[in-house]
Amino acid sequence: MRALLLENVHADAAAALEAAGCAVEVVDRAYDEAELTRALDGVQILGIRSKTEVPAAVLAAAPDLLAIGAFCIGTNQIDVAAADQRGVAVFNAPFSNTRSVVELAIAEIVALTRRLTQKNADMHAGVWDKSAEGAHEIRGRRLGIVGYGNIGAQLSVLAEALGMQVLFYDTADKLALGNARRCESLDELLETADIVSLHVDGRSTNRGIFGEEQFARMRRGSLFLNLSRGFVVDHDALRAHIESGHLAGAAVDVFPREPKGRGEGFVSELRGLPNVILTPHIGGSTEEAQQDIGRYVAGKLRDYVVDGATSMSVNLPHLALPPKPGGHRIAHLHRNVPGVLAAINGLLADSKVNIEGQLLNTRGELGYVLTDVSVDYPPVVLDKLAAMDETVRVRLLS
Ligand SMILES: NC(=O)c1ccc[n+]([C@@H]2O[C@H](COP(=O)([O-])OP(=O)(O)OC[C@H]3O[C@@H](n4cnc5c(N)ncnc54)[C@H](O)[C@@H]3O)[C@@H](O)[C@H]2O)c1
Repeated sequence: MRALLLENVHADAAAALEAAGCAVEVVDRAYDEAELTRALDGVQILGIRSKTEVPAAVLAAAPDLLAIGAFCIGTNQIDVAAADQRGVAVFNAPFSNTRSVVELAIAEIVALTRRLTQKNADMHAGVWDKSAEGAHEIRGRRLGIVGYGNIGAQLSVLAEALGMQVLFYDTADKLALGNARRCESLDELLETADIVSLHVDGRSTNRGIFGEEQFARMRRGSLFLNLSRGFVVDHDALRAHIESGHLAGAAVDVFPREPKGRGEGFVSELRGLPNVILTPHIGGSTEEAQQDIGRYVAGKLRDYVVDGATSMSVNLPHLALPPKPGGHRIAHLHRNVPGVLAAINGLLADSKVNIEGQLLNTRGELGYVLTDVSVDYPPVVLDKLAAMDETVRVRLLS
């Protein structure tokens, strides 16, 4: 097994894969499409973060690839539908950096509400401006959370613990935690909140959902945070509302176009604005989160390539059969149509192969079955399974 880990994923990931018997190559930056296509020759496991795109063309040119680990939360950088078709498992780390993002959001809410950016800049310029004007406590202020998922919900809990009143708006039905109040519409939230914080996911329909109209609806003197996805927000409109004084400040961690790596120049409409905190997409970038992501995703990749387990996979049916020493395990990924399990078992029975354990699950257009068989089996069985019309991928795991 060969693994290629790009974009500086935590060293624990390489260590976990090496311990599972993989030869691991580690690269500290993202690859573009041409580089990635060349590098995937003979590679079974690819690890990336958010900067490396894995389009259908790359997957088509990588027949050896079994699994992709997204060492981050989002998987929009991967053509998951194409991965489905080719039977490439995709894993991510949906919860590992949730707390880190929430802590940064809380820090920024306090900093903006106290105008720390301005006070700090003044002090460095030798100006002693001791005044309470425009500085507030966050206690009692109304925080409007847009997107009440893992991050939004955890922010809700911590903000309430600090005495804030929490409102939220989510397109899906969500349980309101603590005393948080659900808004019936985004407009209701925008018109009520003192601070609006975006935590929506990266689905394509969220492109540009927050622009001139939404900023105009926010209360005069309110604050805006985006630590979700850059393409969600119109930055020209945000700039205009900061410059006009309609918004008192903003914190932005994610941008429509982000530099590919450290040291590359950063271009944005938001540079140079007062009481605006800009951070280089570091919401989830704490050592604790990176370590947890590294361990979590590498563990999922290891479990998939070694045992065939797909628990928490982004795209494959979820399945985990306890390891059974002394036998062989066949992992069969197929198109989800009637009769496949019967056909697999018929082939095994015809070859006098005894099934000692079996699990099937389906998800959308895919079916996945793990079958433990006795030690003696004719190798031609695998060829027959691979030759079935419905087969997407078949692997012998031990
Ligand atoms: N800044 C960072 O470093 C960093 C780190 C981690 C995650 N993120 C980003 O934070 C975001 C949230 O992550 P999460 O783990 O909470 O995701 P999640 O999937 O758990 O939650 C997203 C929520 O947003 C809701 N939603 C989607 N579109 C919406 C819309 N238009 N209006 C209202 N609600 C909508 C969904 O129903 C869901 O409840 C993601 O975009 C993720 O990529 C950023």
